Amino acid sequence: MFKKDFPYFKNSDIVYLDNAATTQKPQVVIDSQVEYYEKYCANTHRSSFSDANKATQKYEDSRKILKEFINASLNEEIIFTKGVSESINFVASSFTRDYKTVIISSLEHHSNIVPWHMQGRNLSQGLKVVNCDSNLNFDFEEYENILKENPNSFVSVTHISNAFGKIHDIKKIIELAHKYESVVMVDAAQSLAHTKIDVQELDVDFLAISGHKTFGPTGVGALYVKQQHLKNMKPYQTGGATIHEVDFNSSTLLDSPYKFEAGTQNIAGVIGFGEALKYITRIGYKNIETIEKDVYNYLNEELSKLPNIVFYNDIENCIGSRSFNFKNISHDDIGILLDKMKVAIRVGHHCAQPIMKKLGIRGTIRVSTAFYNDYEDINKLIKALKKALDILN
Ligand SMILES: Cc1ncc(COP(=O)(O)O)c(C=O)c1O
Repeated sequence: MFKKDFPYFKNSDIVYLDNAATTQKPQVVIDSQVEYYEKYCANTHRSSFSDANKATQKYEDSRKILKEFINASLNEEIIFTKGVSESINFVASSFTRDYKTVIISSLEHHSNIVPWHMQGRNLSQGLKVVNCDSNLNFDFEEYENILKENPNSFVSVTHISNAFGKIHDIKKIIELAHKYESVVMVDAAQSLAHTKIDVQELDVDFLAISGHKTFGPTGVGALYVKQQHLKNMKPYQTGGATIHEVDFNSSTLLDSPYKFEAGTQNIAGVIGFGEALKYITRIGYKNIETIEKDVYNYLNEELSKLPNIVFYNDIENCIGSRSFNFKNISHDDIGILLDKMKVAIRVGHHCAQPIMKKLGIRGTIRVSTAFYNDYEDINKLIKALKKALDILN
């Protein structure tokens, strides 16, 4: 029903089920890119001619749109970045060095693991991992014990697992963290394509956001920083457009968000991201959630009928990604055959090697849906999987 809004589906006969990797872009987002480059291509926050003013205005409009979209209280709490990876690295280098302990979950993407290793943290020093149960649910008992022993920690957890679709109860994670004087960053890479986030209602401290996984252009994302933390954030890059005054002896920086956005930004990307958010608002999360839940349930039902399928979790509190394997069949082979049958999925570790290792597997076959996917896509996937299994068995 919504595929008509996305030119990719007019131009390609591929069944696209790799939305956790990146989503397709609606025409309005693509138009905004062309319009910027064709009609008012200029740098922002510098020159004063009319196209430069327009570019600045549109860029700042996107900040306002995102602020309202996630219900932040102030524009200065929204900092544009390249995406979730940059947002997490930014917080890791600019805010967390003095925290003795960083707490993550076992379902994290490498983007929320490697930055902590780069700080010299590991399981014997400065890094704690909250495990999950056999259905990949977050272990709140273990979490509270870690917090009790390590109050004043930095908690960094994903909202929705890209590998398994499991939704962490972030409201509860945040409440518990605050009870033990800890601060929380949520990796929302997989959230905004599927569900609403209200930063004030959650009382989250930092939120890492991805544009390209939210129907926006690649190379753009954002970091939400609760106002009270801004004064403790050091820019991890500086340069053009971040300063108030410079001489050869010293520099004084602008206020947030400008002091954090060094150099020429991904202007078209930011503008396009704003358009993507406006597009989601027009569709409405109520619609998105209803459609997605229905298609996700259907996907699970149809997959469950396939012989020798192995799942790693139930679908309680899940959305987007569904991961599985077939006994004695390599996921790589399935990936190759499905590609030949024009079904786009991802096979492998999905940038989540630690949880794969815990489960004793190299990787999975991952199908990940968005609200434009329908029953027909699932039927084509199942047909292709059956054919692949016939070939491989
Ligand atoms: C849960 C999760 N975190 C972080 C990332 C990295 O996001 P980005 O591509 O915006 O840097 C991804 C991308 O797959 C992800 O799924």
